[in-house]
Amino acid sequence: MTEIDLSRALLGWYDRHARVLPWRIGPAESAAGQRPDPYRVWLSEVMLQQTTVAAVKAYFERFTMLWPTVDDLAAAPDESVMGEWAGLGYYARARNLLKCARMVSNELGGAFPQTREGLIALPGIGPYTAAAIAAIAFDEPETVLDGNVERVMARLFDIHTPLPTAKPELMTRAETLTPRRRPGDHAQAVMDLGATICTPKSPACGICPLRDPCAARRAGTAAELPKKTAKKPK
Ligand code: ADE
Repeated sequence: MTEIDLSRALLGWYDRHARVLPWRIGPAESAAGQRPDPYRVWLSEVMLQQTTVAAVKAYFERFTMLWPTVDDLAAAPDESVMGEWAGLGYYARARNLLKCARMVSNELGGAFPQTREGLIALPGIGPYTAAAIAAIAFDEPETVLDGNVERVMARLFDIHTPLPTAKPELMTRAETLTPRRRPGDHAQAVMDLGATICTPKSPACGICPLRDPCAARRAGTAAELPKKTAKKPK
């Protein structure tokens, strides 16, 4: 299977099985060229750093109800935002969130930069988050490598090098798979596959859209990948 075929199989699966999440637009709208609101994508990605989708949902709904636009959030008092953040943890994220909202609102006319390079210059946006926002909000052909994506790549290509040594190789594999058409949906499709089918334990290979081309499935090694370097005893 070529990279194009792999990504086509994945997008076909995503069109039918994408998780419905409050910061997303539907696959049909996305395939028709619509994009989600960059403010909502940014807010969700910052909340999702170190926090699960399940925990983020309610916070995301509350924030966007109180502050529907980046200008609204930028104008909010610090205490209100910190108060609403309570429970999500990692409070530096909330302080950077406000700093970033104020920069975008006051210095960029309320518009988020559309490229990875532009986004990474903002407070609280690292390489991973910049790539995720550029891909999801602006359909830039950026590659997003999180834990889910690492696991999918390690299995698809049966890579036994342990993490973190394997990261550059997994990134190269993920980049090669990123399509020019619908890269934002592709990024979310790999994340969803990792979260719902290609799970750490007992992966559901029988219903996986990549079961035929998956090298680990053929080798019978899926459940043991990715390998991790044993932690040194303290
Ligand atoms: N984790 C981080 N970003 C995500 C997204 N956009 N969709 C699902 N899970 C995610």
